[in-house]
Amino acid sequence: MGGNAPRRHAGLWQLAVDTLDGNWEHDHTVPSRTLYPHQWSWDSAFIAIGWAHVRPDRAWRELTSLFRAQWLDGRVPHIVFNPAVSGGAYFPGPEFWASATVDGTPPVATSGLVQPPVHALAAWHAYRIAPSADGLAALRRLYPRLVAQQHYLATRRDVGGAGLASIVHPWESGLDNSPAWDAPLAAVPTEAAVMRAYRRRDIVHAAAAHRPTDLDYARFVAIVTAYRAAGYRDDGLAGRHPFLVECPLFNAAMGAAEHALAGIAGEIGADPGPHRESAARITAAVVDRLYDPTTGTFHPRDLRTGQLTPARTVLGLAPLILPDLPTRQVEAVLVEAASARFGLAARMTRPLPSHDRTAADFEPLRYWRGPSWMNINWLVRQGLLAHGHTRLAAGLRASMIELVGAGCHEYFHPDTGAGLGSPTFGWTAALLLDVLAD
Ligand code: SER
Repeated sequence: MGGNAPRRHAGLWQLAVDTLDGNWEHDHTVPSRTLYPHQWSWDSAFIAIGWAHVRPDRAWRELTSLFRAQWLDGRVPHIVFNPAVSGGAYFPGPEFWASATVDGTPPVATSGLVQPPVHALAAWHAYRIAPSADGLAALRRLYPRLVAQQHYLATRRDVGGAGLASIVHPWESGLDNSPAWDAPLAAVPTEAAVMRAYRRRDIVHAAAAHRPTDLDYARFVAIVTAYRAAGYRDDGLAGRHPFLVECPLFNAAMGAAEHALAGIAGEIGADPGPHRESAARITAAVVDRLYDPTTGTFHPRDLRTGQLTPARTVLGLAPLILPDLPTRQVEAVLVEAASARFGLAARMTRPLPSHDRTAADFEPLRYWRGPSWMNINWLVRQGLLAHGHTRLAAGLRASMIELVGAGCHEYFHPDTGAGLGSPTFGWTAALLLDVLAD
């Protein structure tokens, strides 16, 4: 049991450690043995934070194995396929992505998309939990790779030319079927019949009513097909690609990564200055491009229309993780978070849902359209702490611990707290350890 974790949570602590142990797979941790039996990018970052509390060696192996699959252009793929797992265990599997046919890809099969760049944040957080000579050596090895990851996003993905990265697929946001993507997805030309050629594996392991719909999947597949047909190249995206969005969570993660890289640089004897400058530029661009003063929250910008997307999802709260977010936006986000839409309070029963509770399209059971997720709540809590809102952070922490009392589920019903999705989910366990120890 971690030194700081109160004894009354000993059972929960052990449940989380057992969950991580059960998902450990020689050099990485699967998010779930059934639903996600390979290595996922942002899952590994959150999972490394949990390992830092109990097995720091695994935290470093987790991040090292992920970055070993980094492409030559700097992108960190969102899935690294385990060759020992059958190709049909997950859809879309390695044959669908066909990464080996692309120049500059690693020997291991991967997807061609990325996920929110929370890795520098995770590496720096993990190191501060468990500082050691081995940890320092790992930071030194990871640093140039983390810098290359940022460089890829800040250059090749700056489709809008304003200093923000664009995502080219809803899977890149991590919040696959969030209502935030309904408007841009509706413009993607496809037919549900596309899926007749494929077999979804997710609904073998989880209730279809708790997952994205077949039409969502048809569009997900159509967008990957377009990107793959262009060799996953990023030049010329603006003219040809059917989904191009600047996401507030993704870009807030990119800014927070520069702050973390400044910390790492200072620790390993590199220059933190350029990272601080990049961080300031990204924060300014997030505010300039994605904050809507009429709603008082952040929204994704659809580059195909130039418009902010209307849904008020939990993505809008994510810029709170930027320590240099101006006071005006911090206060606006706190108002949004404390409203009936999300229910943040010093004493709160349930953590933040993934979507506005008061919206007509709020769905408490369906993946990212309502359920509560530990990683988003963890990020918002980090933001509250960064801005000195300790009472709200404490309220959120208590609600997160209470929620996971039901088990390390993938996500949770935002009202009843019932567990949904995978019952033994990696990042839920990992981030539970982090909040228990804090
Ligand atoms: N989150 C996606 C899935 O559900 C892929 O990254 O499979």
